[in-house]
Parts: sequence; structure tokens; C-alpha cells
Amino acid sequence: MNWKTAAALVPAVVNALTTIPYEAFVRREPAAIEMLKTALFEQGIVGIKGVPGLACHVEQYIESARAFSALPEEVKNQYAPNRERGDLFLGYEEGKERFQRPDGTWAIDDLKVSYYAFLPDSPCCNRWPEEVDLKTPFLELGSLMMEMGKEVMEAIDLIGSGTGIELSESKVGRLLYYRKSEGSEEKNPYWCGAHFDHGLFTTLLPAHYFLDGREVPEPEEAGLFVRQAGAKEFHKIEASDFDLMLFQVGEFGQLVSNDGIKATEHRVHKAKGEIERYTMALFYGPVPDTVIRSTSILTNDARYEGGMGAACTYQTWHVNSFNRYLVK
Ligand SMILES: [Fe+2]
Repeated sequence: MNWKTAAALVPAVVNALTTIPYEAFVRREPAAIEMLKTALFEQGIVGIKGVPGLACHVEQYIESARAFSALPEEVKNQYAPNRERGDLFLGYEEGKERFQRPDGTWAIDDLKVSYYAFLPDSPCCNRWPEEVDLKTPFLELGSLMMEMGKEVMEAIDLIGSGTGIELSESKVGRLLYYRKSEGSEEKNPYWCGAHFDHGLFTTLLPAHYFLDGREVPEPEEAGLFVRQAGAKEFHKIEASDFDLMLFQVGEFGQLVSNDGIKATEHRVHKAKGEIERYTMALFYGPVPDTVIRSTSILTNDARYEGGMGAACTYQTWHVNSFNRYLVK
């Protein structure tokens, strides 16, 4: 099956996103928490609407993300990770991730551009551009996302008392910029191939799209698509309301819960032509030396060294995931 045929088979089905009002969530209203849990456990994704300050922080962040993206390539490349020094990923990264197609072959997401930094800010590790103030809006928006995601994880008992799982002090923030596809959608219909995030949990934002410097609505064919656990098809997530924060489950969340909650499989479909896409994601992992003895089906994956019931640290899972999906 070629890429064109594969794209044609994807039905234009839109999944209604379950959205919880922020006020109901912070009051921990039982009906709201129940809805949140049902959405995350069954659909793999949920939104919270109306987080105070979000809209303003997003606007500043998108502006600086666009300003950074507009810099010459040689300037941006000064902020690429120094892998010879041992930096795995922090800073500017272009087309460095690969995903496995259903037929087993690998595809590189060559139009996906990232800027990674730890949150809270880590002066020893994070690299920030001098030409554009990306740092301030990235950290301000990232902090808001970081707190909300932590509260959602607590609300679904993925972390906190009794779970034995403590969040790592450092979270990973990621600016995502998807470049114009200019016809390449026929060869590869995805800006980002189907995958699961490998950490515990992810907070993300509805994406902003631009055409010739002007913001445009999300095109029908483009956006975040999710496949519910056990489902055959991916469904588009309709999230055009910018006052939303979105939450997804990572593979380590599935491992620590022994399949009690399933990781969210997702991919990003390209927009046709000259449209660009911006968003932000924030990833959570436990303290790196956390040891689990999972009975999840994911223990069959070679990244979980030792197999079902064996002890495996988050650090092992994390490094093995990078080694599998990073283009060397
Ligand atoms: Fe992802």
C-alpha cells in the first residue's frame, strides 16, 4: 500500500472532544472528574476549557515561535543539540524523528521542527536563542501547562499517594512547528506519523495555522488524529477553540498502571499547500530511577528490558525510546 492509498482510506470522521470547564475541574466536581476520566480512559484525550491566563500566554508564545522560525537556518542551527557533548535533544531540532509505518518500514518526519527545553528553566542545560525572546513566553506558557497536567494526573490517580510514582522535577517542553508541505502530502500525508508519546503523560495545545503570514482556521484535512484503544481507525480531534488545553496518556502511564489506562496513539495530518502549523507540548516522566515491575502488554516491547514482571527503570525506557525513534 502506498502513502496515497493509505491517506485515501482515512475517513474524514471527526471525534467530538470531551471538554471540561476549568472551574468545574478545580472544584473537583464529581460529574466533571467522571467525564474527564471517561474521556481519558476511553478516548485517550480530553480538553479543559478556560484556564485563566491561557489565551494571553498562547498569543505571546505563537508570536515568538513564529519570529524564531523566521530566522535564517544557520542562526537556528546554532541552537541544535550538541550530541558529541552528550546532549540528546535540548534546543533546536529539525526532522530528527522517525516513525514506523504499518508495513514495518520507517519514515522520517522531515517537515517537523522542534525546540526543546526543560521546565522549570534549567540554566545548566536549556539553550535559548539570543535573537528572539523565545524563553519568556515558552516558560510562562509551559508553567501553566505543567501545573494543569500535574493536576489532571492526580485527578485520575496516575501519580500521587498510593501510586508509588513521583513526577520528575524536570518536564520537557517542546515547541512544534510544521513547515509548509508544498505537494509532499501525496508522498507522505503526515506531518507526524502515528506514534505514542513514551513518557507518563502529555499536555498540549490546539494548533495555530498560518498562510502567507495570516492566521487561518484549521483546514479540514489537517490536524491531530487519535486512534482510540482497540479501534481500527484514527479520528480527527476537533479542537479549534484556542481556550483549550489538551491532555493525552503516554506509554509509561500505561506501563505503571498495568494497562489500567492506555497510551494515546496519535498522528498529525498535513495541510495542503503553503499552510504552516504551530503548537506546544509538554511531557512528563517520573523520577528517572523509578523502578516498576509492570505486567502491561507493553512489557513485550524490547525497550522494556527484562519483559513482563521484571524490574525496569524509567531511565531505561526513556533512553531506549530515544534510541529507537531518533534519526542518528
Ligand atoms: Fe506525540
